[in-house]
Amino acid sequence: MEQIFKDPLKLVGLTIAATALLSGFVVVWPLEPIERHGSFADSTPPEALALEGAQVYYEEGCQYCHSQNLRPLPSEVARFADAESYGDAVLPVATEYMFESPAQRGSTRIGPDLTRVAGRLTEDQVRAVLRGGGPAGSLAANYHPYAHLFETDAGVNPLFLSWRIRMLREVAVPLSDPYQKSVWWALEDATRGDALVAYLVSLGQRQLQFRGQFYQ
Ligand code: HEC
Repeated sequence: MEQIFKDPLKLVGLTIAATALLSGFVVVWPLEPIERHGSFADSTPPEALALEGAQVYYEEGCQYCHSQNLRPLPSEVARFADAESYGDAVLPVATEYMFESPAQRGSTRIGPDLTRVAGRLTEDQVRAVLRGGGPAGSLAANYHPYAHLFETDAGVNPLFLSWRIRMLREVAVPLSDPYQKSVWWALEDATRGDALVAYLVSLGQRQLQFRGQFYQ
């Protein structure tokens, strides 16, 4: 030990080795992808199109007007969710957000909360809202000039989605290698609008299927 402290070269070498080892523990080790498939019924990964849609939602800034943050107040539950079909799963739980990074819970509500929008609107209704198809002069018609999202398939690229899944896995989102490979064929001919709709109709759908079924 004394030898090391006397010899500056050895000391520098030891410091570098110790720093590298500690960085390994602190930085690399916690980022190892965690494989948790099958541990929870509601941890099945989302459809590839819906995962792409989460990104479109974020890019288009929907989170600045819509929260996904239903609070346990009777008035809110009555307004934004159908408590009868959700049973005890009416409020959002952490596992619903584990495939999203960043989670888009938001806190501003210029439009309605979207946590349980899948139980409230059908796919066609969501499509109509986004195309600005509400009655002329209504808020939805004014606030949703998103018809262009449905017009071309530009901007939906399986390669980018695949990279994003890789990135998500790096931050311990429980997606698997086969899942990453499977998305290559999942986006064919889809537009950004289609992806967004798939994402919106998936919000709260899992809870309807896995938990709500016991209360129907
Ligand atoms: C400028 C604010 C604003 C932005 C940005 C915005 N919305 Fe809205 N949204 C609203 C308002 C306001 C309503 C309510 C319209 C009404 O009641 O007529 C609404 C309604 C909706 C509805 C219908 C909800 C329901 O329960 O009836 C959906 C779905 C929706 N928005 C999705 C989106 C998506 C997806 C985006 C991003 C692409 C988005 N919105 C961007 C303000 C906004």
